[in-house]
Amino acid sequence: MDSILVKGNGPLNGVIPIAGAKNACLTLMPATLLSEEPLTLTNAPRLSDIRTMTSLLQSLGAEVSALQDGKVITMSSHGMLNPTADYDIVRKMRASNLVLGPLLARLGHAVVSLPGGCAIGARPMDIHIDALAALGAEIDLRDGYLHAKTQGGLKGAVHEMRFASVGATENFVMAATLAKGTSVLKNAAREPEIVDLVQCLRRMGAEIEGEGTSTITIQGVDRLRGATHPVVTDRIELGTYMLAPAICGGEVECLGGRIDLLAAFCEKLDEAGISVTETEKGLKVARRNGRVKAVNVVTEPFPGFPTDLQAQMMALLCTAEGTSVLEEKIFENRFMHAPELMRMGARIEVHGGHATVYGVEKLRGAPVMATDLRASVSLILAGLAAEGETVVSRVYHLDRGYERVEEKLLACGAHIERISGS
Ligand code: UD1
Repeated sequence: MDSILVKGNGPLNGVIPIAGAKNACLTLMPATLLSEEPLTLTNAPRLSDIRTMTSLLQSLGAEVSALQDGKVITMSSHGMLNPTADYDIVRKMRASNLVLGPLLARLGHAVVSLPGGCAIGARPMDIHIDALAALGAEIDLRDGYLHAKTQGGLKGAVHEMRFASVGATENFVMAATLAKGTSVLKNAAREPEIVDLVQCLRRMGAEIEGEGTSTITIQGVDRLRGATHPVVTDRIELGTYMLAPAICGGEVECLGGRIDLLAAFCEKLDEAGISVTETEKGLKVARRNGRVKAVNVVTEPFPGFPTDLQAQMMALLCTAEGTSVLEEKIFENRFMHAPELMRMGARIEVHGGHATVYGVEKLRGAPVMATDLRASVSLILAGLAAEGETVVSRVYHLDRGYERVEEKLLACGAHIERISGS
């Protein structure tokens, strides 16, 4: 298994191109199952999660090819589709559950294994099941698989989710595009990836209103057509690289960055003493004078502070002046990076959903272990600012969500290298 070696090497300066969003791409790809005509995605990120979704769609009978070194994905689901998403693929990634809504809409039945993915909490499926049941699906859980069927197809309905789940919103919206009549989803998630999905579905001929708000209305249509759609910028990759100069000093321009994708995060950076300015091509980030200031952070659904940036923000706050409290409100058990950061000299206390970070002057390099996708990159960020060498092992998590991380950081003057494992 590969590891990443990083050495604290002073300020970072340069330009980092931000890729298309992993989480948007993972919901746009299953949308191909809704149409017999081809769907092409441009600005796709080159990640192992995207390859996992490719294998899943192929196992369901879709044709999927990657062009231009993976930046363009063309898909077609014109043939006979297989309704079963097997455990062997689904266990690798929770986002596999996003084939459930499209398969139900297109075939009227589906069998989908319960998902795997990062070990950051229980991550049940009840909200997905309730949302699809509202559209008339009958869903049983047997032998670790969700068995879903409809009597004569899905029917439009009004449904309010108990929590604004991102994945359940995506499954409901995709399923409702081909349902009979009008569907209304209340307490819908508002994430930019959902707005991107709706924009793509609209290009495919779907009739949808209200994306980006808590109420989404979908008028079912008989069929969807093919389309070409550019994947939105990855706001989590963007936030991660914005933290690199914040932690190490220096100035980095993130190409394709937009403040509206990360407003709550940018406010916290400002409070901590990091300047963010919009440029013609993206966002420029620099640390203002002196040490970063402690700030309190609460993770919340969009437009709140994203849970997917909590680990990286903690890495920044480890060397802040003062005491910060981070509250995790989306996933229980999402502080597994804290003990690893403590191996590097951080002072952190975790109590349930709260972590208190007592800022220290400097972190020290140490051997550490990546426990999930965002935790892995937080350890790299911490290592870039620490004294001495840090070796982050188990980086297969990193490759699920960050393309060419070494290349992007090297270009800004970081000392980072991949050590190939056996
Ligand atoms: C998506 C993102 C993930 C991000 C998360 C929250 C993708 C591929 N992944 O995950 O990176 O961290 O949004 O922003 O887009 N829940 C239930 N029952 C359900 C569904 C969810 O209890 O049926 C709970 C989860 O356990 C979790 C919370 O709701 O505590 C949020 O989950 P959800 O919004 O569904 O996240 P995902 O779509 O899985």
